Amino acid sequence: MEKEITLGDKTFKPFISKEKIDEQISRVAQEINRDYKGKKPLLVGILNGSVMFFSDLLKKIDIECEVAFLRVSSYKGTETTGNVKKVLGLDKNIEGSDVIIIEDIVDTGITLEHIVNDLSGSKPNSLKVATLLFKPNAYTKDYPIDYVGFEVGNEFLVGFGLDYNEIGRNLDELYIIKEPMLNIILFGPPGAGKGTQSELIQEKFNLTHLSTGDMFRFHMKNDTALGKKAKEYMEAGNLVPDQLVIDMIDNKLSESHDTDGFIFDGFPRTPDQATALDELLAKKDWEISKMVSLEVEENELVKRLLLRGKDSGRKDDSDESIIRNRMAVYNKETAPLKDFYSNQGKHIGVDGIGTIEEINGRINSALA
Ligand code: IMP
Ligand code: MG
Repeated sequence: MEKEITLGDKTFKPFISKEKIDEQISRVAQEINRDYKGKKPLLVGILNGSVMFFSDLLKKIDIECEVAFLRVSSYKGTETTGNVKKVLGLDKNIEGSDVIIIEDIVDTGITLEHIVNDLSGSKPNSLKVATLLFKPNAYTKDYPIDYVGFEVGNEFLVGFGLDYNEIGRNLDELYIIKEPMLNIILFGPPGAGKGTQSELIQEKFNLTHLSTGDMFRFHMKNDTALGKKAKEYMEAGNLVPDQLVIDMIDNKLSESHDTDGFIFDGFPRTPDQATALDELLAKKDWEISKMVSLEVEENELVKRLLLRGKDSGRKDDSDESIIRNRMAVYNKETAPLKDFYSNQGKHIGVDGIGTIEEINGRINSALA
C-alpha cells in the first residue's frame, strides 16, 4: 500500500488495502445472494459515502435486484454531529419491497436511525442494513446491523468513499488518521529534578508516565504471566531479559488510550534496549520523539543531594563518596545512550540549573 497522505490539516496512514476490502465485499455479497435468493431486493445506497462500496457490492450481486439512492448529510470534520439532514429523497415507492440499506460506515448510528425511521414509514416488506464499516464501540443504538464488512475502532477513517471535509473519497483504499505522539525519554542524574519535571511535562502534554520499575512491581504483585516469568529469572539469580521488559511495555502501550504520548522512565538503559524499544514503537508506527537529558554539573548535584540527605535522612544521599559513585555509574550508563539518540538527531541537553519553573520552561521549548 502507499505511504502516508495529507488531507487538509491531517495526516493519514494506510489502514485496509484494496485486496482486503474486496475480499470482505465479496463475502457480504455472498451472504446477500444467499439470503435473498428468489426475492428481488432493493438496494438503497446512502450518498455520498457509500458510492464505492455500493458499486463494488452491486457487481457481485448475482440475483435480480433493483437500486435506488438517498442522500443525507450529517456535517463536517472528524466528528459526527448528530444533526442529520435529508438532502435528496428516494425516487421510488418502496412499499412491499425487501430493502437493504447500503452504508459506508455506521458510527454512532444516528444517521442510520434517521434513515430507518424514514424508510419504515413507507412500509417496505423487510428492511436490512449492510455497511462496509462498523464502529461497535461508538454505536449508541440497538438497531441490528445485518451485514458488516469490517468492525473497526473509533479512529477516523478516509478513502473508499469516506471523506474528511469532502476530500479523500476517491482513494481506492482505506486510511486511518495518524495522531502525532510525543514520546520522550527523560534522563537526568540523581538530584537533577527528574521526578518533578516529569510530572510537569506529563500534565502539560497529556502524556502517560511509563516506569519500568512500577510495571515490574505491578506484574510481580499481581502474579501475571509476565510477573511469573520475571520471578523465575530473578530466583535463578539471572537478569530479566530485555524482551520481557519490552513485553511489559508493549502491554502498557496497548492499554493506554487517550494519551498523546509516553514518558519512558528507567528504560532504555542500554543501546540494545533502545534498539528494541525503537522496534516496538515502529510496530505501532510510533517513534521516540526526543531524549531529554537534564544537565547539572556534578559538584552542584553533590551539594543538592547532601542537602536533601540532611532533610530526609536518606543514607545514600548523606555520603559524598556514595553520591559521587552514583554519578559515575549514571555517566557511564547514559553516555552510550546519548550517542544513540544523538545519532538519530533526538538528543537534547537541557540546562538543569535554576528554579523548577525555569528548567520546566527550557524543557517545554525543547519539546515544542
Ligand atoms: P453516525 O455517527 O453513525 O450517524 O455516522 C454519521 C456519518 O459520519 C457517517 O455516515 C459518515 O458519513 C461519517 N463518519 C463517521 N465515521 C467516519 C469516519 O471514520 N470517516 C469518515 N466519515 C465518518
Ligand atoms: Mg455516510
